[in-house]
Amino acid sequence: MFRVSTAASLLLLIVAIAQELSVTAAEQDLPEGFPKCKRDANFDKCLVDAVNVAIQLLKNGNKEFGIPPLEPLAVKKLVIDAGNAPINLRQALKNIKVHDLISTSKILRYKTDLDKHLIICESRTDRIEMIGDYEMSGRILLLPITGHGKSNVTLLNTKIEHRLIGEPFEKDGVKYMRLKDYRVNFEPKRVYLNFENLFNDRTLSDGMNRFLNENWETVFNELKVGYAKSFGLIFRELSNKLFEKVPFDTIFQS
Ligand SMILES: *[C@@H]1O[C@H](CO)[C@@H](O)[C@H](O)[C@H]1NC(C)=O
Repeated sequence: MFRVSTAASLLLLIVAIAQELSVTAAEQDLPEGFPKCKRDANFDKCLVDAVNVAIQLLKNGNKEFGIPPLEPLAVKKLVIDAGNAPINLRQALKNIKVHDLISTSKILRYKTDLDKHLIICESRTDRIEMIGDYEMSGRILLLPITGHGKSNVTLLNTKIEHRLIGEPFEKDGVKYMRLKDYRVNFEPKRVYLNFENLFNDRTLSDGMNRFLNENWETVFNELKVGYAKSFGLIFRELSNKLFEKVPFDTIFQS
């Protein structure tokens, strides 16, 4: 008798878990506290305020949606090489922690064309501090550079342009939109670069770091396409964690 009821309750438990799973696999609402916007004349403006609230709510991550903590944001690897930019340099940043990215960000403008699944956004981030390990070899501003060690790349007052290019898909007869491309463009007012241990030599390293910072604008121009590509991929993956679970008409109220 005891056995039967144990088996029965086990079965119930399994059924309950299965139901739970099927619920989370089906369409979801936006995370709690996310404001929603109606697709009317005021939509783009509404979205500015809504997303400004939403990103702060996501700062510590969201387990239900599989979103990791965004501050600091952990990035395993960010590679910049000649394939990405017209430079003869390979730079890899590894085990990076990106600080301040969310709490110092403000969305300024949205321009959407939802019929074309296109969202353009302009934001401003006061501080993006990337701390991690680097490996570098090649040339920067025509000078040979090589080394590995700790790195700190910090961007101040950065205007960021986001272009989210979506495509619709259906799940159980419901329309969703996923992002197939997320393009980013960074325009910082100042970039500080510090690569410890360049050339495996303290004096050469200090001199080179001074040179890089004196010429930060040109240096960053050589690097920024690579950074933008890497961040575009990260932002796309994070955004899709919401877009692929929440139906289009739930996110964008008709
Ligand atoms: C990284 O560089 C910025 C700008 O120079 C500086 O303010 C910050 O303290 C540095 N961070 C670390 C961990 O060294």
